[in-house]
Amino acid sequence: MTAQIALITGANKGIGFETARILGLDGMIVLVGARSAALGEKAAAALAEEGIDARFVHLDVTDAVSVQAAADRIEDELGRLDVLVNNAGITPTDASDPASSPPPSRVSPGLVRAAFETNVLGVVAVTNAMLPLLRRSPAGRIVNVSSSLGSLTRTTDPSASPSLPNLLPYNTSKTALNAVTVAYARELAGTPIKVNSVAPGFCATDLNGHTGTRTPAQGAAVVAGAAVLGGDGPTGAYLSEDGRVPW
Ligand SMILES: NC(=O)c1ccc[n+]([C@@H]2O[C@H](COP(=O)([O-])OP(=O)(O)OC[C@H]3O[C@@H](n4cnc5c(N)ncnc54)[C@H](OP(=O)(O)O)[C@@H]3O)[C@@H](O)[C@H]2O)c1
Repeated sequence: MTAQIALITGANKGIGFETARILGLDGMIVLVGARSAALGEKAAAALAEEGIDARFVHLDVTDAVSVQAAADRIEDELGRLDVLVNNAGITPTDASDPASSPPPSRVSPGLVRAAFETNVLGVVAVTNAMLPLLRRSPAGRIVNVSSSLGSLTRTTDPSASPSLPNLLPYNTSKTALNAVTVAYARELAGTPIKVNSVAPGFCATDLNGHTGTRTPAQGAAVVAGAAVLGGDGPTGAYLSEDGRVPW
């Protein structure tokens, strides 16, 4: 059997890198998407040292030219994609106060726009560019890396919400991403392609100044699990280590 092929966006570090490692050690060819050539090459080389067939693919999810070039390269080199992990994500901060997480009443529209450009529109752009390749897979899987902070049920639960960060740009972008997941799952129902959101849990990465309580590898295990779902697995679902997250 030929090896499965997985593209992971934002795979040069954090949860994306660890997801590439898990899928690569599982025998997949991993395409290490990164917007920085230096960081992407370095990550792919580190994975190759572990015996993984890892290949750097230049991919800035906010740049349409870069997205199409990545799809063209995968088409030319491999002709198919089995797994797409939309992992690249940001928590935009106010440039004038990088340490700040302003309350909604002080958030500038620019911060919200920045979050949506990467966390939502980037996912749509990459997914649409890669879908022709995923349709050639016998069992395509799309994993959108969301967050439990995108759950309206969680963030409106009086017993849970006081402890959850109220980050308007980030949280609303992940809620929108969940809606994007559902939209693709509906279109692709009746095809072998499954589309799910995952919440990896609070992991120590650059995204949160390494304040997370879980390791990136623990978060990546959740992501990778959704990438290798069997034919009887869910689609259009919001998954975590503890089962389904309420929307
Ligand atoms: N850490 C957590 O607790 C947590 C919890 C829930 C969900 N998540 C989600 O998990 C995903 C990965 O986050 P992480 O925690 O691993 O953060 P991270 O270490 O900061 O990694 C984020 C990755 O996304 C990449 N990226 C950002 N903008 C990009 C763009 N325009 N094009 C391509 N790549 C881009 C970054 O590349 P550069 O190195 O070039 O910046 C980096 O590789 C995100 O979607 C995040 O929202 C994280």
